[in-house]
Amino acid sequence: MQNVIGIDAGGTLTKLVYLNDQQEFEFKLFPSNNFNLVKDWIESNPQIEEIGLTGGRTEQLLSVLKTMKSIEYVVEFEATFKGVCHLLKKEGFDLQRGIITNIGSGTSIHYMEGDSYVRVGGTGIGGGTLTGLSALITGILDFNEITAKAASGDRNSIDLFVKDIFEGIDVPIELEPHLTASNFGMVSILKDPKRYETNDLLATIQALVGEVISTLSIQFAEHNNADHIVYIGSTLTNNEHLKKVIGNYTHLKKHKPIFLKNSGFSGAIGALLNKVEQTEIKK
Ligand SMILES: Nc1ncnc2c1ncn2[C@@H]1O[C@H](COP(=O)(O)OP(=O)(O)OP(=O)(O)O)[C@@H](O)[C@H]1O
Ligand SMILES: [Mg+2]
Repeated sequence: MQNVIGIDAGGTLTKLVYLNDQQEFEFKLFPSNNFNLVKDWIESNPQIEEIGLTGGRTEQLLSVLKTMKSIEYVVEFEATFKGVCHLLKKEGFDLQRGIITNIGSGTSIHYMEGDSYVRVGGTGIGGGTLTGLSALITGILDFNEITAKAASGDRNSIDLFVKDIFEGIDVPIELEPHLTASNFGMVSILKDPKRYETNDLLATIQALVGEVISTLSIQFAEHNNADHIVYIGSTLTNNEHLKKVIGNYTHLKKHKPIFLKNSGFSGAIGALLNKVEQTEIKK
């Protein structure tokens, strides 16, 4: 491996990236509630000399690292934007303008045009909501278990769909029968709610999170006349079910969703690239 790494110390997860001898990215994931693991990993790789660093928990990580290595801090969205641009190019996209929605612990939404960007909004509904609600409602906290189980869940007995409200009469033309009218709304109108299957509950929680995030992102896309919405963040990692919820709704509203491989590492990739550039400039 090379002597430089990029780290994004996020609210929930710390992402670390470096280039191997073939110049390919290698990724490492650590929980942000135990920075000693990051410290141990860095110390076990003494060839590391330089660190590009970003993320909201930067100060907390630095207080644990206490390292003498050369560290370059970069503001979180600058790093994320750099990383997203790199991944877009790598996958053959030539995007001049679009919305970037980062689904981390919470969700942050930016508008990009050329090589500039501006934060347009966000919501506290994000990956933390997904794991938090899942734990409270089903007792499952493990992200991989949540996404695996949600994939085979059925929302029909828990969510209230447009077709359930307009029973027996024609649905107004502007409303699609299969759209959600009320997330978890079916439960609220039952006289005697039954016990629900874990997989069904998890699928419904994912849909709640995905629909709030895509609805908001679409509104910002419309407001800014942007066709594309790039959805990123570790909440999408191996989470085909959430991508489907978000992708379907975005398509339905006539926008183009883009999901990038390894998008959860955008910030860490940007921090790495920034550090490499800074080093080259100094040489
Ligand atoms: N191995 C994992 N362990 C825990 N959560 C995971 C894991 N993989 C994916 N996730 C999901 O990813 C979310 C965190 O996403 P991400 O790493 O992008 O956010 P963050 O950078 O930590 O937070 P923020 O950007 O808001 O500070 C978690 O809330 C969870 O839903
Ligand atoms: Mg983050």
